[in-house]
Amino acid sequence: MNSGIKLIVLSGAGISAESGLKTFRDMGGLWEQYNVTEVASPEAWKNNRELVLRFYNERRKQLLEARPNDGHTGLVTLEKYFDVEIITQNVDDLHERAGSKKVLHLHGELRKARSTADPSLIYPIKGWELKTGDTCEKGSQLRPHVVWFGEPVPAVKKAVQIVSTAEILVIIGTSLNVYPAAGLIHYASPGAEIFLIDPNPVNMPGNREITIIQKGAGEGVKQLIKILTGKGKKV
Ligand code: OAD
Repeated sequence: MNSGIKLIVLSGAGISAESGLKTFRDMGGLWEQYNVTEVASPEAWKNNRELVLRFYNERRKQLLEARPNDGHTGLVTLEKYFDVEIITQNVDDLHERAGSKKVLHLHGELRKARSTADPSLIYPIKGWELKTGDTCEKGSQLRPHVVWFGEPVPAVKKAVQIVSTAEILVIIGTSLNVYPAAGLIHYASPGAEIFLIDPNPVNMPGNREITIIQKGAGEGVKQLIKILTGKGKKV
């Protein structure tokens, strides 16, 4: 039995960087290589579906070769001590493959496809490829089950509710550039203790007191575990 203390994690692309997956806004990141509106928007899907499919197929191929890193597994270790819930902006499944039990995907899931006619029809993708001509049971083309720029983020309501329960909030590997995800921290209660793990400086919205662990995810989560389970800290 863990302590029941609610530890909520908000993760971004940085937590998967040490697994070999590129972030978006770092040097050499995905948005330096691709124009976001050309691969991750409803307009792109309409105008150049093949490019969109290729972009996500490539991401999926890399994901299948990637493994969870010490950052992901460290969060699983924390489940021994805390009631851990993860809200991730990542479309990869490395938190789940590491063994985290409660994971909410804000921006969708790369290894799933959904119907363009009925968004409630969601299917796992076998292997790495989603192609033109792959259809749902109603005969409509399948699209990647990801949130594109300009689309609503249906999971945000649930995420707000989860963040509001946080006694400890841990932000890992996100530049906090994209809303509504970046705004979630405003829903943490005034008493919540906030940690930020990132090797680079991050602009935190608001003026909350936070403990910054300026390290990569693997080392950073190790340090967090030490702080939270160290002498004098009740868990
Ligand atoms: P970004 O690429 O904007 O930010 C990545 C963050 O990870 C930066 O703050 C880096 O400093 C940090 N980082 C780099 N290496 C790290 C490491 N080894 N350990 C820990 N942190 C590291 O990615 P996100 O904030 O996740 O949305 O981006 C948010 C959203 O923008 C994504 O979900 C995606 C993107 O456009 C959609 O596609 C809808």
